[in-house]
Amino acid sequence: MQAWKDYQSQNKDRFLNELLDLLRIPSISADSKYRDDVARCAEAVKASLLSAGADKAEIVPTAGHPIVYGEKIVDPSKPTVLVYGHYDVQPPDPLDLWTSGPFEPVIKDGKIYARGACDDKGQMFMHVKALEVMAHSGELPCNIKFMIEGEEEVGSSNLGKFLEDHREQLKADIVLVSDTSMISMEHPSIESGLRGLAYMEVEVTGPNRDLHSGVYGGAVQNPINALCSMIASLHDENNHITIPGFYDKVKELSDTEKTALNSAPFNQKEYNEELGIGKEWGEKGYSNLERTGTRPTLDCNGIWGGYTGEGAKTVLPSKAFAKISMRLVPNQGSDEIAKLFTQHLESIAPAGVKIKVTTHHGGEPVVTPTDSVAYQAAAKAIKTTFGKDPIPTRGGGSIPIVALFESILGLKTVLLGFGLDNDNIHSPNEKYDVANYEKGIETIPYFHKFFAEMQGN
Ligand code: BES
Ligand code: MN
Ligand code: MN
Repeated sequence: MQAWKDYQSQNKDRFLNELLDLLRIPSISADSKYRDDVARCAEAVKASLLSAGADKAEIVPTAGHPIVYGEKIVDPSKPTVLVYGHYDVQPPDPLDLWTSGPFEPVIKDGKIYARGACDDKGQMFMHVKALEVMAHSGELPCNIKFMIEGEEEVGSSNLGKFLEDHREQLKADIVLVSDTSMISMEHPSIESGLRGLAYMEVEVTGPNRDLHSGVYGGAVQNPINALCSMIASLHDENNHITIPGFYDKVKELSDTEKTALNSAPFNQKEYNEELGIGKEWGEKGYSNLERTGTRPTLDCNGIWGGYTGEGAKTVLPSKAFAKISMRLVPNQGSDEIAKLFTQHLESIAPAGVKIKVTTHHGGEPVVTPTDSVAYQAAAKAIKTTFGKDPIPTRGGGSIPIVALFESILGLKTVLLGFGLDNDNIHSPNEKYDVANYEKGIETIPYFHKFFAEMQGN
């Protein structure tokens, strides 16, 4: 498709500059101070869809941040691809660890540094530019609908309702998402699954007020100490999670599945060095790729209480808190796991403290089939632009809405991600390689072409 290639290479600099403009908008969905910026970002996405050639684009308000919907319908008899992405980003903290401003994008060594560069503005915007490439060269193999949301990073709590209320408008043959990673440019891969999530908060209360740790210490249970022992007891000596019933529904991979998963290139030594860890860690009996892709986990995301200011203050605090998340794998339900967690924590809380457990947002795990037409189209698109067959992998992250595409709209999803694991998503110095951005824009039109062809169009 020479016309696509020519158009992209003629407009390469502009495509990059437009992404940089989008990255300048601090669309932090978690922080209400940025509400107007989130709204401004939605406007920018809408405008970009219209200038890329969409027939229509609109902003749909929700109880939270708005959704941008757009479409280009070329011929109702052609297949329709629903592109999903998100324009909201994670908070950039800790700010002092960034080497340049999180919302002042810079390009260094061929990498774009900014919050959202990879997750997900950079990846979402590849689809907008791919639409432009296809529209301007008059080669649009599929109808395209866009649903770009502003609340993915805070749990997509209003998107399920949007799906239910817009079933007709969202009718499509497949959902296409670029919000995951691949192994490397040398080893392109396609994630064929996402983990689910159950996110909990624990509050432990000891004495009815902060106490002098000398006057009372030794006679009153310290809620921080109690919380730490409870958290420590959630893994056993094999790093297996100890919550009763936690693994009941987890299926072991077959030997064939295990072999396939572990045939992906992976070097433990390089992995450890890159992360600055002395030794890997994880559930006994599973490889690194199995641990992140196919096994459930439990991690403390934050813990606080007592005195954390400058210097020392001797205090036996009244309260301690922790945020704990669990990544889930197929057949584990987030509500059920949240319940098991709550019951277990209540049962192990020592008599000297009171405990309150609350559930934050959750999401269900998904496996995207690799034997579907859509997956084959994605694999052929990668083969065309990378010159190599993609390796199917399992992603460790979560995109809760993907399970709802299936349960509410009856649609399967293809995860055509171009990020890299070391893109520092959710971390300081998030980056996205210009090469990945451009490769994505080049690859996406081929997905549309092969998907249409494989459907007999
Ligand atoms: N894009 C990520 C998910 C992801 C990253 C999947 C890398 C596969 C590979 C997404 O924006 C994300 O961060 N999701 C959250 C869940 C959400 C409910 C906050 C996550 O995985 O923690
Ligand atoms: Mn994302
Ligand atoms: Mn994210």
